[in-house]
Amino acid sequence: MSSNDRHARLNDAPPSLQRRHLLTAALSLGVAPWLLFACVPRAGAVVPVAGDSAPRQQSAGQRRKLGPFEVFPVGLGCQWHPGTARGSVVDMYHSAFDRPAAVRLIRRAVDRGITLIDTAEVYGPFLSEDIVGEALQGIRDKVVLETKFGMDLDPKTGQRLGGLNSRPEHIRQVVEAQLRRLKTDRIDILIQHRVDPQVPIEDVAGAVKDLIAEGKVLHFGLSEPGTQTIRRAHAVLPLAVIQNEYSMLWRGPEAQVLPICEELGIGFVCWSPLGMGFLTGSVTADTRFETSPEMDFRAVVPRFAPEALAANMALVNVVKTWAQRKNATPAQLALAWLLAQRPWIVPIPGTTQVAHMEENIGATAISFTPDELQQLNAAVSAVSIRGERLPPAVLRMSGVDTPPKH
Ligand SMILES: NC(=O)c1ccc[n+]([C@@H]2O[C@H](COP(=O)([O-])OP(=O)(O)OC[C@H]3O[C@@H](n4cnc5c(N)ncnc54)[C@H](OP(=O)(O)O)[C@@H]3O)[C@@H](O)[C@H]2O)c1
Repeated sequence: MSSNDRHARLNDAPPSLQRRHLLTAALSLGVAPWLLFACVPRAGAVVPVAGDSAPRQQSAGQRRKLGPFEVFPVGLGCQWHPGTARGSVVDMYHSAFDRPAAVRLIRRAVDRGITLIDTAEVYGPFLSEDIVGEALQGIRDKVVLETKFGMDLDPKTGQRLGGLNSRPEHIRQVVEAQLRRLKTDRIDILIQHRVDPQVPIEDVAGAVKDLIAEGKVLHFGLSEPGTQTIRRAHAVLPLAVIQNEYSMLWRGPEAQVLPICEELGIGFVCWSPLGMGFLTGSVTADTRFETSPEMDFRAVVPRFAPEALAANMALVNVVKTWAQRKNATPAQLALAWLLAQRPWIVPIPGTTQVAHMEENIGATAISFTPDELQQLNAAVSAVSIRGERLPPAVLRMSGVDTPPKH
């Protein structure tokens, strides 16, 4: 197995966790056996949602403000790795395709009107940026491109060296390589993947500021930062976005991070907006996630462990009930709920399937009256989710503040 294969999954996890779970990885892939029916509107077109005759006060519309940008309300996450089968490209869960299909997916998404494309250095490592760069040839100016730095990788092999690295000289090196892989002259939003507790955030922001002065980066963002770090970074260099996990399954950002974003005018990008696929209705209480030959990341996530999973199905029931009521698919309902929470939130669902990408776009056509939204929020709140959202070693990297700058 190549170094890339070994590091293919769990890219947001520390190396110890990767090693433990990747020992079992070998050949062959589980390919998604299902395809939900697709509601396939074209982005930019207003698609009637049958049975929804209520006023559309909360409709997502076709554009929304995300920090300094205006984007289509649903973006696309490009988090892929080399699979163990020759030529295959896999996601973090159970899906596989190949590079030409990934390129086609991104081009189709842009053709459909999606404008926010998310990726990261560590996704692959390098492979996802490479694919995004290839896909955006000739259409680069149509999108807002965000990518991330901050994991400590060998710049040649991509091998995880352990921990994080946001030292200014490292950021500069990483961005040069990212620009080459992305085949572009600028990164629209450069995001620190995880706060590096060794490097004061002022130094990180200063390094990004220099890259902005050179025109290589346009804006700065943070993923899963501590709240003090948000304020300190923003004081040095205004943040365009915070990118955190947020969905009906994990509502942590509502307590502190969303209010800070509102106060400071920072856009919010939701990762895992479909709860790692859980909210799409494709998971049942009996689902057991693969630990071999290819790891499904959910196999090590406490909220998807058998007992927790059975309890958490109550949320899927809420999603399905409301999806039916709104004549939508569960995935569309879950995304529409996010869009209805704030007008400056943009989810970036990940997918390997064109039909799913098109289905997800359909979320923008779903609207809630204030009364419906209140009822739906109450139904979501009534379910208490069992199990942590990430394995402990990964969770420890979230909500971190850097030491003060002396
Ligand atoms: N900043 C960070 O630390 C961080 C961490 C994790 C992820 N991210 C970003 O967030 C993006 C999305 O997160 P994610 O992929 O972890 O989780 P997600 O978007 O919540 O869920 C992805 C899963 O949902 C399935 N799916 C997507 N659309 C569907 C539909 N309409 N119907 C049924 N299934 C559907 C996908 O399978 P199919 O392939 O079969 O569609 C995949 O298994 C990533 O691509 C990445 O860019 C960032």
